[in-house]
Formats: sequence, structure tokens, C-alpha cells
Amino acid sequence: MRFSIPFATIVTLTLTLFVTRSSAISILLGNDDGFAAAQVREFYRLLKADGHQVVLVAPADNESGQGGRSVFTTSRNLTVASEFGLIPAGAPSLGRDPADPDVWYYNGTPAACTYVALDYVLPTFYDNRTVDLYLGGPNFGLNAGPFYYTLSGTIGGTYAAIGRNLPGIAFSGANSEQRSYTWINQTTVSGYPDPATIHAQLAVDIVTQLVGASKPGERLLPLGYGISVNAPFITSLTNDSCISPSFIQTRITGGAVTDRTVYNATTGTFGFANELTAAINTCINGDCALPGETDVVDSGCAVAVSVFSIDYDAPLGPAQAGVRQALAPLVGFEKAERGKGSKRSIMVKAREGLSSKCGPEPDPGSLFFASASAPASVSQFGARASEVMQSDCKYCANTDFFFM
Ligand SMILES: *[C@@H]1O[C@H](CO)[C@@H](O)[C@H](O)[C@H]1NC(C)=O
Ligand SMILES: *[C@@H]1O[C@H](CO)[C@@H](O)[C@H](O)[C@H]1NC(C)=O
Ligand SMILES: *[C@@H]1O[C@H](CO)[C@@H](O)[C@H](O)[C@H]1NC(C)=O
Ligand SMILES: *[C@@H]1O[C@H](CO)[C@@H](O)[C@H](O)[C@H]1NC(C)=O
Ligand SMILES: *[C@@H]1O[C@H](CO)[C@@H](O)[C@H](O)[C@H]1NC(C)=O
Ligand SMILES: *[C@@H]1O[C@H](CO)[C@@H](O)[C@H](O)[C@H]1NC(C)=O
Repeated sequence: MRFSIPFATIVTLTLTLFVTRSSAISILLGNDDGFAAAQVREFYRLLKADGHQVVLVAPADNESGQGGRSVFTTSRNLTVASEFGLIPAGAPSLGRDPADPDVWYYNGTPAACTYVALDYVLPTFYDNRTVDLYLGGPNFGLNAGPFYYTLSGTIGGTYAAIGRNLPGIAFSGANSEQRSYTWINQTTVSGYPDPATIHAQLAVDIVTQLVGASKPGERLLPLGYGISVNAPFITSLTNDSCISPSFIQTRITGGAVTDRTVYNATTGTFGFANELTAAINTCINGDCALPGETDVVDSGCAVAVSVFSIDYDAPLGPAQAGVRQALAPLVGFEKAERGKGSKRSIMVKAREGLSSKCGPEPDPGSLFFASASAPASVSQFGARASEVMQSDCKYCANTDFFFM
């Protein structure tokens, strides 16, 4: 897939131009490649060098591809040594890197690390420190497109933080060699820093820009919003053809792939290959004029920067209206106007006929699409008719729709 990047969409986040504030913030850092991975450690080092307060809480081992799974170990101690053998088996499942007290490992998924950091590490060891910004990565390997958005542990740890009211940014890069932070090349053929350092510096550039553009005390991103950044392959180990990419505003769909199954008759097993589908590239939300992040990182030396939200609802419009109409009258709609006072009026339909007002109890199996003013137990989709009856007698016989 090749495309040309419209000139107008090229946004170089020049550090000096738009900075209105330069101040240190409190950062929680995580990833999915593990607490000892080269790129996250370079990011940690550069953020601290900029004066930020940084606590890194990341998986004890490679937890790539875990998405938003929240898995906490059931074992008090590590049953095997951590990645790169840095922490021995038998050590506690949560602990500090002996070489740096602000670097923590936990034997859980990236999302679990986010929660352990917010609910245990920061309250217990950092005097209840609040967090201004969660940062994930930079990941070894790209996480571009909706399929990888859901699959990536780096993005999963990030949307876990966003769900906990924090602004969050996930960083991924096309360099996918999984290296320890103890292996960062001081010199390279190109004369430029190690790719891990450059990925980290690109990520710092985004943080600096965002912090600089905000007012003191102001949230760095609106509630429920995050950013996903995908950086191209950095070539500094061999040449200087891509060592200083520009930043481009993108969207998540566009050029994106999902999986398809590949059957191997020799082994009798299945594998996967990429599949580019229409569905995964349909622009439903956001600005459809922006280029897709997959297209941008695949096509040259540019960093794709997509803004997302964790509200997965379909947008208003004929597509949603059509689906909702198709579901009616089986599935009732909330009445357009809210009821008087704080009670919300909800349109309710019995799937099976009811008798009359406060008449005999209907078939307890009949489904209601019930009321926000009803108790929580019956306000769920599919609450049983008998429960609704007990809570409120205002129902009618054999009516298509009615209001409570
Ligand atoms: C990390 O896990 C992912 C997903 O299971 C795998 O593809 C990758 O090879 C692993 N990396 C290492 C260094 O083990
Ligand atoms: C777990 O670690 C603690 C402290 O390091 C140690 O005292 C304890 O014996 C360990 N337990 C097991 C089952 O390894
Ligand atoms: C942290 O906050 C919680 C609840 O707000 C409080 O119970 C706890 O004592 C605080 N811990 C410290 C170390 O300040
Ligand atoms: C990078 O550093 C490692 C470890 O010191 C070394 O083995 C490797 O050859 C270096 N690679 C390059 C391209 O300089
Ligand atoms: C630079 O290195 C990259 C990967 O290391 C390679 O794909 C590319 O062809 C090289 N470019 C030049 C101009 O040598
Ligand atoms: C099937 O698996 C075998 C054994 O791993 C491998 O050598 C072969 O290349 C595979 N075939 C395909 C079509 O991927």
C-alpha cells in the first residue's frame, strides 16, 4: 500500500515553537515487553533527565499481545526468573529493580501492572502520588490499526489507565528486536544513537509538546481520550536514512490488517497471515480526511499520531438509526424527552402479552427492557417481567410500547 502524504497533514511538532509551559509532571510508565526492555528504559531515562517524576511499573516478563487482559499472578513469588534473568526465581512477584528504586516489575499483564501501580505501588511507596500522565512503551513492533489496538498489551495498559481517568499515550515502533536495556549501542554505524534511544526521544518529543501546550493544573487530555503513536523503523544501526522522522496526524483505520488462518498440511496446524479487509478500514468515527496510521508508518519515515477515545459506541447517524430501527419493537428505546424531575422515562415493551394494570403476574419468562428508575437489579437489559412488576405496577396489557 503506497500513498502520498498530503502536505497539509504533515505536522512537525517543533519543540520550541508552541511551548507555553515547561514544567515537570508526574508520570506512570509501563509497557508490555517487560520492565527491562531497552526502549522503555531509554524512555524512562530521558523523561527523568527532563525533570519529570517517573515511576515505571511493567511486567516481569514479555507480556506482548495481552491486550487489555487484567491477569494478576496467584503466586506470591516469581516461579521463574524475570526477563533477561535480572530478578531471580523466588523473589517476590512485585518488586523494585535492585539497580533503580523507581523501576518496578510485577508478574502480571500490562493492564494488571497499571492497576497494581495505581492501587498499590503509588499509594504505598510514593505517598499517594497522583499521576498526570500514563505512558506505555515504546513497544518493540508496530501497533497500527484497530486489530492491533485491541491486541497490543502496550495499548491495553494504556487504555486501562485511561479507564482510571488518566490521560494516556501508547508508543510503538517498527524496530521489533526485543533487547535488554543493558544492550544499548553507544556508537552506531550511522553515528546517530541506538534505535531504542531515538524511539524514546521521539516519544519524549510528544510528551514535551503536550505538556508545553497545556496550562498548569489542566488535564493533558480530555477524560476518556488517549493517543496512539506508531514510529517507523529507525535505521541508525546501519545508516541514516530514517533517524529523524516527522510526525503526522493520522487515524486508526486506513491500510490496517487483521488476521486470516493459514493451514499447514505438513504440520496439521494453523498459523496466521495478514488480511486487509473493508470492515477494519471503514471510517466510522473521527476525521475521515486523515491518513491511516498503518499507511503512514508503512510508507516512509514518518511517525503516525492517532487520537482515540475509549467510548466504543457507534456515532449518531443513519447507520446507527437503521440498526436501532431494525431492533425495534423487540428492543425498546429510551424516550427522547427525559421525564420530569430526576426520573427518566423509559419506553418498555413486554415481549409476551401482559394482562392489565397490576393484574395477574405475567409469565416470569417474558422479557422487559426496563427502566432506569427501577432498582438496579431490573434496570438491566432483559430484566424479568416479574421483577419489573414488583418494582412498579405501571404496565399495560398487550401494548407495543409504553412508558414507565
Ligand atoms: C514476546 O511475546 C510475543 C507474543 O507472544 C512473541 O511474539 C515474541 O517473540 C516474544 N518475545 C520474546 C523476546 O520472547
Ligand atoms: C517467597 O519470598 C519470600 C521473601 O523473599 C520468602 O520468605 C518465602 O519463603 C518465599 N516463598 C516461597 C514459597 O518461595
Ligand atoms: C493514601 O490515601 C488513602 C486514602 O485516601 C489513605 O487511607 C492512606 O493513609 C494514604 N496513604 C499515605 C501513605 O498517605
Ligand atoms: C550493538 O551493541 C551490541 C552489544 O554491545 C553489539 O553486540 C552489537 O554488535 C552492536 N551493534 C551495532 C550495529 O553496533
Ligand atoms: C538503511 O538501513 C535500512 C535497514 O537497516 C535498509 O532497509 C535501507 O535499505 C538502508 N538504506 C540505505 C540508503 O542504505
Ligand atoms: C509448514 O510447516 C513446515 C514445518 O514447520 C515448514 O517447513 C513449512 O515451510 C510450512 N509450510 C508453509 C506453507 O508454511
